[in-house]
Amino acid sequence: MATGATPRATATRVEATAVARTNIALVKYWGKRAGDGNLPAAGSLSLTLDGLFTRTTVAFDSTLSVDDVWLGSAPADTDTTARVVAFLDLVRTRAGTTHRARVTSMNSFPTGSGLASSASAFAALALAATRAAALTLSARDLSALARRGSGSAARSIFGGLVEMSPDGDDPHATPLLDASAWDLRMVVAVVGGGRPKEVLSRAGMAHTAATSPLHRAWLDTVPADLAAAKDAITRRDLAALGEVAERSALGMHATALAARPGLLYFRGATVDALHAVRALRAGGANAWVTIDAGPHVKVLCAPTDEARVAAVLGSVPDVTEVHRCRPGAGAELE
Ligand code: PMV
Repeated sequence: MATGATPRATATRVEATAVARTNIALVKYWGKRAGDGNLPAAGSLSLTLDGLFTRTTVAFDSTLSVDDVWLGSAPADTDTTARVVAFLDLVRTRAGTTHRARVTSMNSFPTGSGLASSASAFAALALAATRAAALTLSARDLSALARRGSGSAARSIFGGLVEMSPDGDDPHATPLLDASAWDLRMVVAVVGGGRPKEVLSRAGMAHTAATSPLHRAWLDTVPADLAAAKDAITRRDLAALGEVAERSALGMHATALAARPGLLYFRGATVDALHAVRALRAGGANAWVTIDAGPHVKVLCAPTDEARVAAVLGSVPDVTEVHRCRPGAGAELE
């Protein structure tokens, strides 16, 4: 270095890439309890899916003055960027860094339309951002961190069947059964081309909790549904698990419909698909429906019924895509 020159900090750039798969709740989460940090009002239980995933790269870069967030090949909108920046701030605080990051994320499926993209997105972001910031968290701590981005994301840290606890100051998910331990299928029918939903889960559950006279009664059903679902999993009883899944979803939507004004996530094809699956079931198929905060229909079924479930869903007008999924693994670094 020339005498008298001012030393300049070397530019640093550290990146990590993670993949996380979406999960679909069989016992739904719909409502938060009071307090900071995205605390669920009740537990939930989900299946992580193979095939529907988010891949995210986080690069902390000392030359950046703001966080730069990209979804696919386009810059993220203001709301999404604000959510990602708030999440990165949590990671920066833990890691003791002030460096800004470039985040590039892609989904293998439609974003923000009720296909649980926030679950895979915040699980992938939690893993990629912590590793890029040189933090190594346990899976349990990573799950609690992912929850701060989106309640359902806590579950996508783990594969297979997963339970989310509502308890404690910093709730986290716990794996119940590995993806390879029980050969289940979930057939996902995308309704209406996967356009963005009108009311995001976060706003929808807050509105339901604040205004729906049915919400408290539904929350009171969750512990028994969780116990029944876990018992069914222990016994590998698909019919028992499916019944819990269908009633949990319909109950959740009943609370949302009874909000003031009511929240209606269903489209015509949603109802048609539900009837079609019930008709299959009446004919002997092992298939049960669940529906999240969007119009899409997800069908939990036996491997032997997967093909006919997919065929029936594909023939419903306005079902624009059908994905056949197996249980998937937890979040992983690439
Ligand atoms: O994690 P959030 O805030 O996107 O909420 C998820 C809500 C549901 O998908 C409807 C239910 C669930 O448990 O995943």
